[in-house]
Amino acid sequence: MRILFIGDIVGSLGREMVETYLPKLKAAHQPHVTIVNGENAAAGKGITEKIYKNLLEWGVQALTMGNHTWDKRDIFHFIDEATYMARPANLPPGTPGNEIVFIKSNNQEVAVINLLARTFMQPADDPFRKIDTLIKEAKKRTNIIFVDFHGEATSEKQAFGWYNDGKVSAVVGTHTHVQTADERILPNGTAYISDVGMTGPYDEILGTDKEAVLKKFKTGLPVRFEVPKTGRSQLSAVIIDINDSTGKAKEMKRILINDDHPFYS
Ligand SMILES: [Fe+2]
Repeated sequence: MRILFIGDIVGSLGREMVETYLPKLKAAHQPHVTIVNGENAAAGKGITEKIYKNLLEWGVQALTMGNHTWDKRDIFHFIDEATYMARPANLPPGTPGNEIVFIKSNNQEVAVINLLARTFMQPADDPFRKIDTLIKEAKKRTNIIFVDFHGEATSEKQAFGWYNDGKVSAVVGTHTHVQTADERILPNGTAYISDVGMTGPYDEILGTDKEAVLKKFKTGLPVRFEVPKTGRSQLSAVIIDINDSTGKAKEMKRILINDDHPFYS
């Protein structure tokens, strides 16, 4: 099983990068399934039904989310029907949406899970305790388990990777919007990277208008953050190869596409 995972899609520039490069990445790497983080897809905060459907039409099989899941009111109108969206699983019982999404390719199922980290983040239930329950549930159907761990602190992300080594196929970090170069296969067969990085505006600060962010840092005054719709953009992703029967990862490659790292097919 080969999984392509695209990191946090930010605004229209990020969506355009997915539309443009997904066919090229599929041709070059032949992934069986494509998963994306979509929590910033609508102007940097949240997602709409239209964007969710567009991403599926462009060839995405599943979406993960994060702390911005609920930022666009539209989510409450379609999350019950969003079969391919995994929202953060460590939220209170009764929260709408899926804790696990199962997608299929070549008669093999992949369990897709999204969890929120807690360090420097809004309150959430314990992701370490929650993942144990989710793994038991997922293993009833498949050994291939993909986890997007959405968090700020590299320490917590590494801890989560080591905690799950040998229990899941991959723990990939999202949320910081900065790709880390620490991709590896942990000793018991779990692919790990602290952060896959961001897909969206390249010449801004984490995808947000840099002038506004600078003003905030320099003055401390309240500033309205916008995601630019024009300018250069980038795409961040990983490709993970997983043994179909054991669910153990064999290899993970990092992908970064921008003007400083051009795409070569
Ligand atoms: Fe986030």
